[in-house]
Parts: sequence; C-alpha cells; structure tokens
Amino acid sequence: MSTPHTEAIARAQAANEELLATRVDRWYPTFHLAAAAGWINDPNGLVHAAGRHQVFFQHHPADATWGPMHWGHASSEDLVTWRREPIALAPSLSEDADGIFSGSAVVTEDGTLRAYYTGNRWRNGRDDSDGVLQVQMLAESTDGVTFTPRGVVVETPDDVLDFRDPKVWKEDGTWYMVIGAQSAEHRGQVRQYRSSDGLTWQADGILYEDPDESVYMLECPDLFPLGDHWVLLYGPMTTAAPQGFAGRNGHNAGYVIGDRTAGGGFTPLTDYRPADWGHTFYAPQTYLAPDGRRLMLGWMGGFDRPLASALTDGWSGQLTVPRELTLGEDLRLRQRPIPELDRLGAGTVDHGAFTLEADEERILLEDADAYEILLEAEPGTAEQLGLLVHRVGESGGTWVSYDDQSGRLVLDRRTSTGGPGDRGVRSAPVDDPSRLQLRVLVDRGSVEVFVGDGEAVLSSLAFPADGPRSLSLRADGGRAQVHSCVVRRMRGIWESPDR
Ligand code: FRU
Repeated sequence: MSTPHTEAIARAQAANEELLATRVDRWYPTFHLAAAAGWINDPNGLVHAAGRHQVFFQHHPADATWGPMHWGHASSEDLVTWRREPIALAPSLSEDADGIFSGSAVVTEDGTLRAYYTGNRWRNGRDDSDGVLQVQMLAESTDGVTFTPRGVVVETPDDVLDFRDPKVWKEDGTWYMVIGAQSAEHRGQVRQYRSSDGLTWQADGILYEDPDESVYMLECPDLFPLGDHWVLLYGPMTTAAPQGFAGRNGHNAGYVIGDRTAGGGFTPLTDYRPADWGHTFYAPQTYLAPDGRRLMLGWMGGFDRPLASALTDGWSGQLTVPRELTLGEDLRLRQRPIPELDRLGAGTVDHGAFTLEADEERILLEDADAYEILLEAEPGTAEQLGLLVHRVGESGGTWVSYDDQSGRLVLDRRTSTGGPGDRGVRSAPVDDPSRLQLRVLVDRGSVEVFVGDGEAVLSSLAFPADGPRSLSLRADGGRAQVHSCVVRRMRGIWESPDR
C-alpha cells in the first residue's frame, strides 16, 4: 500500500541511485560502513533485531552534503559481511518535515523494532537561525526493513531551545529515554523520560547538566552499564576555544563514568574525558550484542567544512569499525576493534622482529589501500618511531608516530594532500612507551589507531594523493627495536556489489 512515507522513501531511493552512478572510489571505504552514495553522519538505531545487527545512520541520499535527513540502513548477521538495506525513514509527517534526526532502536517482547528519533522543524522554514522545533517520534517495523511512522511520543518541554537524539533502553521493567538538550539558560543537559509501555512517556527531570558553563548543548547522549559502573557518552557543544590536546575538533565526543542511583539518577565519579583523540570522531552510539558485548560505532565526518569526497566524489562520511567497550580499573574506557574483523583479512605479511637503525625506513607493503598493522616495538633511542600510511611518492602520507619528546602517539596529516580541507596534527597519551603496542586500521580514506590495549584511540579521515600507495616504518634520530610487525590486507564488507 502506498503512503506518504513509502512515496518519500521511493523518491529518496531513486535520487540515491542517480547519485551512485557518479561515485568516485579513490577514498571510498573498503571495510567501513558508508552510504552507497550521498552524505552520512551519526550512527542511529543500533540494535540486534530479526536475527541481524541493524545499523541505521543519518543520511542525505540526494547529495554528498548535509541536507534533509533520512535514516539510511545496513545490516549484518555476523558483523563481517554487510547488506545494504533500503532507506528506512524519510520525512513524511508535519513534525519531521525538516528532518528525521538522530535516535535509537529497541525490540519489544513481541519482536517489533521500535525506532525513536527526533522530528525536526525549522521555525523559519529554512534553517536553524531562528530556532528549531524538536520532538521525539516513533516508527515501527516488524521485518526490520520497512517502517510505519507512529507520530510524536514526547513533546518539547517549554524550557529548552534544543531537544534531540533520544536513546531508549529497558531497565528493571521500565523503559527509559535520555535526550540531549540546550536549556533556556544555554546549558548542556541530558533530560530523562520514563515509560511502562514505550508509548506514553513521563518527564523525569534533568539527569545531568554539564558542569562546564561553556557547554551550551549536549548531543547524542547514551547511558549504559559497563563493568561495575555506568557510562554517559555525549557530544558537548561548546563556545570555548580549543586548548591543549583534547577537544580540538569542530565536534568532539567524550564520556563521564558514574553510578546509576536507585530511582534512576546518575552520579558522576569522574570528570569528562575524550572518547577519541583523532580529527574525525563524533556522535558515537552503543548497543548490546546478543552475546553481552557492548559495541560502539562512531561517525567519521564533519560539519565544519566540506570533505574532499563531498566536493568531487558523490559521497561523504563513514562509520568507524565496530568497537567493543570495556571499563578499565582506572575508570577509562577501553576500545578494541571486534575480533570478527580478523575474518576480513586477505593476506598477511609477517615482518617478524628487526632493528631499525637511526633514520632507516623500511617499506612494509606496496600498492595497498586497505589493511591493518599490528606493531610491538621499543622506540629505544629513536626520537620518533613512525608508520607512514597512505604513502604516495617519497614522503607524502599520514604519519602515525610515537614522539619521544612529548611521550605521545601523533597522527599527522600535513603531508596527506589528496584533497582540499583540513589536515593538522592530533595526539594521544601512551601509557607504556617502553613497549609500544599499536593496532592501526587503514582504509582508503581513513586511519584508526588503537594504542596499547585500546586505552587511547585516534580516528581520522585522511585522503591520500593520487598514485600507488605504500606503507613504511621509520626510526628518526635513533635506533628502535621492533618485536613484532604484522600487516594484513583487508577485503570488502558488502554482500553484493553496488553497481
Ligand atoms: C549530531 C547531530 C544530532 C542531530 C543530527 C542531525 O551530529 O547534530 O544532534 O540529531 O546530527 O543530522
């Protein structure tokens, strides 16, 4: 039966197929989720339903820049091979006329997939310059693929300016929803709601207000148990200028560890900490896999300036690989790529143990654009021990190096010159530099660095220049000892070709 929603989906799908014909693949990911064509941002609605892992995402199907938001969709049985699903949600009601914004998904006892999302409207009908009207809405699906809109479930309270990104879960028989808010006083808050049936919701007050007064809005809150505590993950929007090593991006995500108090409160135990130290990581969302693992995906993209791929290649933005979260005794998150990724390995080169003399560079792989590196080394007297990934020509590429002067792991895109746009340097702390342990995932247009046992991560898009790409390792200014170095090519994730 044709409805305004099915018609809106059909139009979006047709526009996306037209754009797909123009897609250029030089930076298009091999083993990361991205739309077939067009723009994506936040992961949405992560859930295991209908026997598959469901990943939805903010999507503008008709263009590679941000625009009227839809929910795109991909699914997988095993988190290794992915199927492109039709666009799941498109604006079709007056309350979501200007965008199906971010949200989450749950499965009810009778197997219905419920997607909760923010319906967005511009007050002036054009953009957010005169404010927004944001409400929380519901759409339901019995097959996990096609959705029926059910309308508004939470109206906007009077005392907020922004109100979006519902994350829903069930706890001790009660449904909870947390929503990111900007208060009338321009403070970043998390508002909580509760419900016995997931349909009728009661306001449950301000769960958390960011103590930092420069934070005027919290986006994409996620609240979940991990180890013996709870994690509140969110994107603080701030008026403060970047300072020091953290919070240097246009959009930054981080977390606070705390305890859930009886009656559904949240008591922080730590300060806010960055979730990722790279250039391009935002709007992470988690979900519980059937085996009890807490998995997280984040968005690699940006709103601040158009990405090179958006200007020329018909697509923009990808998601991180799925990461498993655990909590360290130091109350810091540990993030590790899920072990399922090993099954994407397509040819391993084991370089064994070796010494790198001062200023020696060793080529580890030729003509490769999707691979991972597992490295254990002692930097020794080297001032910098660095991998040059996306290496094009003699020295262009992205440096992933341990820097002995700062004691930090540095991701430097200054010689990665594939497209216009932001380059720059980011760095993360290294707990034990005497035995450097790195896992680096390199895709055609991205680099994710896991330091140690996942205690620090850097995620950055990086667009290499034209030409064959190689990988090398170099010790600058001193001698380094490599204990083990394995490089593994990665194959693609899609069940069937796009075109
Ligand atoms: C975060 C965000 C969300 C919003 C969505 C709109 O990146 O701004 O707060 O729901 O993107 O696309």
